[in-house]
Amino acid sequence: MPPDGPVVITLDGPAGVGKTTLARRLAAALGVAFLDTGAMYRAVALSLGENGWDLPEPQIAERLCRLQFSLHGSGDETALAMDEFVLGDELRSEEVGRWASLVARLPAVRECLVAAQRRMGSARSLVAEGRDMGSVVFPHATCKFFLDARPEVRALRRYNQLLRLGQTPQPLEELVEALRLRDEQDRTRAVSPLRPAEDAIMVDTSDLDVEHVFEQLLQQAKACLERREGGGVR
Ligand code: DC
Repeated sequence: MPPDGPVVITLDGPAGVGKTTLARRLAAALGVAFLDTGAMYRAVALSLGENGWDLPEPQIAERLCRLQFSLHGSGDETALAMDEFVLGDELRSEEVGRWASLVARLPAVRECLVAAQRRMGSARSLVAEGRDMGSVVFPHATCKFFLDARPEVRALRRYNQLLRLGQTPQPLEELVEALRLRDEQDRTRAVSPLRPAEDAIMVDTSDLDVEHVFEQLLQQAKACLERREGGGVR
């Protein structure tokens, strides 16, 4: 990213660590768009349908690379669309998360989505959250964060989030197991596994409330922006 190009701030980390909430709030505070790349993997998993990921990779690429992703609005109000469909909370079930983690292992899927993510990041300033934002997609990001928390803490947060969304979560012990399985899948896959970029700021959120983490991220992000040549967000 050239120093005078759009600002990109990356937030990576495992499922249930609070990335979406924090990235959205950070984007609102900085007046830039918010890019939820998990939603992109969830949406293509749904569009391929159950077992669609068993199709030959060229066929998958042919279907997915045609999809147009676009960002509208900014901050809290940012909407991410796949073709004409705005991606919303209906994608946030554990079942769809599990599918997304399975399709995310396929190089053809990652290639199409990474290209779409870079296109959006080169067009406008944003806070991007996912698994490989700082390590692969935006290696020259203005500021990189990697969030982590103990699995039990993340499972409880996910449980409460599903309740808030009006869904019936599975029992907490099952959710801990499901998260461990998804972590294992995301951390050990061959392409772009979940891992911190070398220059990422590490934040363990296990014993911190969301306000505390948010303040910490905001201060650090502002410091990154000041260090950036010329400073500020364009
Ligand atoms: O953040 P999330 O739970 O919505 O992501 C769903 C899955 O998508 C996650 O288990 C792995 C995959 N994913 C990915 O591989 N790379 C990203 N940048 C974002 C998500």
